[in-house]
Amino acid sequence: MSLIAFDPARRRWSLTTPRTSYVIGLTDDDVPACLHWGPRLTPEQAAALPGAVPFRASSFDESGVAEELLTEAGARYGAASLQIRFANGDTGVEWQHTGHEIEDGHLTILMRDRAHPVEVALHYRVRAGCDVVERWTEIRSEEPVTLLRCDSAAWNLPPLPGYRLSHASGGWAAENSVRRVELPVGETVLTSRRGITSHQANPWVMVDAGEAGEEHGEVWSAALAWSGSWRVTLGRTPSGRTGWTGGFGHEGVSWQGTAWSTPVFAGLYSDGGFGGASRTWHRYVNEHVRPAAGELRPLLYNSWEAVGFHVGEESQKRMAALAARVGAEVFVMDDAWFGGRTSDRAGLGDWWPNPERFPHGLTPLIEEVHRLGMKFGLWVEPEMVNPDSDLYREHPDWVVHMPGRPRTELRHQLLLDFSRPEVADWAHKWLHRLVSEHAIDFLKWDCNRTFTQAGPGDLLVGHVRAVYSILDRLRADHPHLRVEACSGGGGRTDLGIMARTDQVWTSDNTDAADRLSIQHGFTQIYPAGAMAAWVTDSPNPITGRRVPLAFRFHVAMAGVLGLGGDLPNWSERELDEAAELVAVYKDIRPVVQHGELHRLREAVQYTLGDRVVVLAFRRRGAFGAPGVPLRLSGLDPDARYRDEDTGAVHHGVLLTSRGLLPPFPSDDYASALIRLRKEQP
Ligand code: GLA
Repeated sequence: MSLIAFDPARRRWSLTTPRTSYVIGLTDDDVPACLHWGPRLTPEQAAALPGAVPFRASSFDESGVAEELLTEAGARYGAASLQIRFANGDTGVEWQHTGHEIEDGHLTILMRDRAHPVEVALHYRVRAGCDVVERWTEIRSEEPVTLLRCDSAAWNLPPLPGYRLSHASGGWAAENSVRRVELPVGETVLTSRRGITSHQANPWVMVDAGEAGEEHGEVWSAALAWSGSWRVTLGRTPSGRTGWTGGFGHEGVSWQGTAWSTPVFAGLYSDGGFGGASRTWHRYVNEHVRPAAGELRPLLYNSWEAVGFHVGEESQKRMAALAARVGAEVFVMDDAWFGGRTSDRAGLGDWWPNPERFPHGLTPLIEEVHRLGMKFGLWVEPEMVNPDSDLYREHPDWVVHMPGRPRTELRHQLLLDFSRPEVADWAHKWLHRLVSEHAIDFLKWDCNRTFTQAGPGDLLVGHVRAVYSILDRLRADHPHLRVEACSGGGGRTDLGIMARTDQVWTSDNTDAADRLSIQHGFTQIYPAGAMAAWVTDSPNPITGRRVPLAFRFHVAMAGVLGLGGDLPNWSERELDEAAELVAVYKDIRPVVQHGELHRLREAVQYTLGDRVVVLAFRRRGAFGAPGVPLRLSGLDPDARYRDEDTGAVHHGVLLTSRGLLPPFPSDDYASALIRLRKEQP
């Protein structure tokens, strides 16, 4: 079956994915509407769907049309996806359909306004083997218009007995807490007004009827590919209609011009529960979003938690030797290697090696790291400047500010206005030079403050686009370069940044017990192969919690394992144990980073080919309490699985129906790693 089919008699388009269908139709007066978003339909079944109800104007009712992009024209009362002010002051868009284009899996439905020379293209893209539908919107106008809002897409749900919203909220060092609430009648807004994706909310939603579980039930989900301010407005009307509209910017934001395009707002339907939805997202992100997801992410050491701003050539060399001993593959020097940066009060913007700390430049350290058999990585924060810096003294006008108002400093820093081409060019030039003149394989791109005094207009959007374009150019010019996205921990975790980076720093909180829930939230949408996780010291520097080394390792091994502890203070025994656990991780790494993830009760399971890896956790031991077996998921019931460590052989059907008891020691913060291999019949 082709990915996209057009039925001219009924004026409807069917997008077909392996397990789902998405069908769009037009009302008699050309309003584009969603006719179906759910299980896969044959052409005959799609033709049998009821057509879009006619748009009915009413003072006291709703139109009943599940619009693909809600405008503010006529008798519409929902949250508008598209708000245009035309040159003469007119508002609203009255839809007129002008045609469509289909190319491979890409459908463009062409619309225009009936009175003004404005074209609106509704884009849809589906790919063979993938259940995700990508959507975005483009505007072209012959005369300049003001866009008060231009969402990427609106998504509509079928009538369900109830509606439950799952989303992530949190804060700094507490990202990605999954919340599940009944969707209230009315409007629910999930948003970031901070200029970054944010720690407080993440741009994705899942909605179910209230009955889905981790491994069963229908789930409708969408995620926005954007790393700046964003807004998703969910609506549930008293009459039961439900859906959401989303895109970049937030209320009161406006852009002017004749051409505009939005980021992708991707959506999927799954009948495999939240876990099934997550696995479809992971596959999509790995196969169609991340640039080098087919690689295995190397194990890095980063000294930030260990030494903070106290970096120097000799001390970093000593740290590198220990990192290599434990098995690190990349050595990353974090903040404070440049300019006058010896604390967070100065130096951002002056991107040359601090002459006192690195009297001969970075090369001696890089050469030593290479001699130890590791690659070299460096921390940068290109979008920022400290007022106490040569850059600011030379270009005080480069920062985002409002004339006549105080410049809000956060962490003693100001935001450079990358929407100005000369500022973005400056950043690209020094980054390009830094990577060209040094053997740098890895950059950690940080962004440690939110945006203020940005005003309405293009700045917020233009800045993020410039960040994207600098990253794209750097990658194109330096194909070996790998990049970690970071924003005070996980403040820039989204599909937009993942399209041009290799991993995300999940959270500044490396406490393994807290990480369990942060990682649980991260993997709702984003794959384990992009989730950077370090093993650090105990007690944890942020939370003060004491957790055994094996537990810390096992939690971090559930993603892209890294090391961040103060290794000179680790005992010989700890260093040896760490080296052993690193070796185990290197063995399971393909399964964790490229496998299918099943979230079990207090455990995660990864499956790749004939291998199964389970990482199980128990925060509190209770003497004498009976252990509850852990039921595995997604195994071949007829196969036998051999435990690679004990040699025990288990039947697949018994692993999923009865489960197995993780071999926990009796303490608090107990953890276990189980490696199984499917036996050939
Ligand atoms: C942010 C990052 C940390 C570290 C510091 C450096 O907080 O999340 O990992 O890089 O900046 O200042």
